[in-house]
Amino acid sequence: MIANCLGKNEKGHLTIGGCDVKDLAQQYGTPLYVMDEGKIRETCRMYRDSFRKYYGGRGMPLYASKAFSCKEICRIVNEEELGLDVVSAGELYTALQAGFPAEKIHFHGNNKTPAEISYALDCSVGHFVVDNLTELELLDHLAGEKGCKARVLLRVKPGVDAHTHKFIRTGQIDSKFGFALETGEALTAAKEAAKAENLEFCGVHCHIGSQIFDVAPFVLAAEIMVGFIDQIRKETGITLEELNLGGGFGIKYVQEDTPPQYDAYMHAVSDAVHSKCKEYGLPVPYIFIEPGRSIVGEAGITVYHVGSVKEIPGVRTYVSIDGGMGDNPRYALYQSSYTVVAADKMDEPCTKEVTVAGKCCESGDLIQENVMLPELKPGDLLAVLSTGAYNYSMASNYNRIPRPAVVMIKDGQPRVIIRRESFEDLVKNDV
Ligand SMILES: Cc1ncc(COP(=O)(O)O)c(C=O)c1O
Repeated sequence: MIANCLGKNEKGHLTIGGCDVKDLAQQYGTPLYVMDEGKIRETCRMYRDSFRKYYGGRGMPLYASKAFSCKEICRIVNEEELGLDVVSAGELYTALQAGFPAEKIHFHGNNKTPAEISYALDCSVGHFVVDNLTELELLDHLAGEKGCKARVLLRVKPGVDAHTHKFIRTGQIDSKFGFALETGEALTAAKEAAKAENLEFCGVHCHIGSQIFDVAPFVLAAEIMVGFIDQIRKETGITLEELNLGGGFGIKYVQEDTPPQYDAYMHAVSDAVHSKCKEYGLPVPYIFIEPGRSIVGEAGITVYHVGSVKEIPGVRTYVSIDGGMGDNPRYALYQSSYTVVAADKMDEPCTKEVTVAGKCCESGDLIQENVMLPELKPGDLLAVLSTGAYNYSMASNYNRIPRPAVVMIKDGQPRVIIRRESFEDLVKNDV
């Protein structure tokens, strides 16, 4: 199985967190997102413990809430003592509504609006990860007006190629995120941050991409960032005390995926940070990382009922489901690979090659092409695995299809953590 929270019972049904997926589909309806809380907590603890092991506790994993944001996930990661990365006032609001401590939140975004900055200052958000000079000036100005000091990290493009899909690659010079090192832009920003009256210049940040399987680019990025901290010290006299190395750790979507052992990543990056600091005579900074996908991705599945099965002789067979790009736009956006299983026919041989299609009015509304499944008929159940990250959070109401519910399983007990949208929800803002 793709994830250790999944299994198969004696009826030949898929299970998640010990619950029969067919029973869940009957109880809560489909499409349905289901997540296993034990798996989420296990990963949070693994990250937290690795900071004790490799940095003597001088660091903190932040959960990148863009992967999946709702009040309950904020409560869970808070209980697990992680911080949070938010990228909009909406994600910030969600976290605060869940009682998440503002001081443990890093506020990201390449175009934070004045209203968002103002709101985040009023909430005493822990850190602003500043993306550009316009934002730096605005933040300094607004903090001055409010009579407070904003704690700042600068988002830097270290120029590391992480060999990932170009749509989710963000460490390059040609990226809308952050200040480039090579062009001197990052150093200029550091000098501005150092002299801004209402900013406390705490450190630097980088994020080199997503769904990365190789440890080497992370190590290289960490070395470059420590080198930049050294350059800033030489040019401004300021020794930065914080380094945020971003997220991007890959997960298993299909059998062939070989994500790194997170412990190996933490070990290698910690070694790189320590040895570079020694080389430059710098104190080891307080380290942050920002895993999103790797905390929730494998912990979630999406369950659908099969509607029609359309065989086009000599072309292909479309299996249409009761969801689609509205609840999972990732195949339509960038042809993401997924494992699809027949959740109530796990013992049947996969003899048919099919394309799993959604119900939206778009030919590109596909969930996966050329997957091997058993012979299917209307009413059968399909489950798409590893959909805990960037599925609910990227969902839309295209075609006015209500977003599915999210059910969380804990110790074999399911509970709804996000209700299914109703038709009333769809028109609630219509005038
Ligand atoms: C700045 C930043 N941090 C963290 C993440 C989380 O990445 P992942 O979910 O791949 O761990 C992202 C994702 O795009 C990001 O842009």
